[in-house]
Amino acid sequence: MTTTYRIAPSILSADFARLGEEVTSVIEAGADWIHFDVMDNHYVPNLTFGPMVCQALKPHAKTSAGVAVPIDVHLMISPVDALAASFAEAGADLISFHPDASAHVHRSIQAIKNKGVKAGLVFNPAEPLDVLEWTIDEIDLILIMSVNPGFGGQGFIDSALRKVERARQWIERSGRVIRLEVDGGIKADNIRRVADAGADTFVAGSAIFGKPDYKAVIDQMRLALS
Ligand code: DX5
Ligand code: ZN
Repeated sequence: MTTTYRIAPSILSADFARLGEEVTSVIEAGADWIHFDVMDNHYVPNLTFGPMVCQALKPHAKTSAGVAVPIDVHLMISPVDALAASFAEAGADLISFHPDASAHVHRSIQAIKNKGVKAGLVFNPAEPLDVLEWTIDEIDLILIMSVNPGFGGQGFIDSALRKVERARQWIERSGRVIRLEVDGGIKADNIRRVADAGADTFVAGSAIFGKPDYKAVIDQMRLALS
């Protein structure tokens, strides 16, 4: 079976004064998903944007032919449930949270799924995957952090590759359709290694928005994956 890779540019590194245009441009450049990093200055030491910004960007999350492009919300917030529900109402298509940010992980997953949105769990570099034993049958996405959450532009942490391999084993044993996404420090020159470890979805912020030609970067990434 061939893997369908997804490239998910993180608008954390976009020009915040022109977010709608940035979403449109990166979709024209070939983005498959829009990665939306939500930070609360509590779970992580940074503060970004909330459901109102997601709602404002929703009409921009489509191709020029009008095909919807999923909004992939990565919650770096604690607590999780109330804002997760607000993001679902604001048009998020996938919502992921960090299990260590929720007192009741299973309940948080249900809070997302009850809204008809796909649910994901996110694992920090030093966080074990153990919780998957009790949640793998409920989730649609596993997101492995290859940097510590909070900021764009950090260097890729190599031990994430071993964690991606283990997460891939969990997915295969489950027999379920679950996306395996990696977030942090991904560039055209390391994306192949991340894919070889078992990832199928790649977040990239500074690598794309830090360059003038978004399409050239996304094309290089696809070439590396082909
Ligand atoms: C970090 C965020 C990432 C970040 C990745 O907390 O979750 O999505 O934007 O940025 P780069 O690709 O620059 O490492
Ligand atoms: Zn992220």
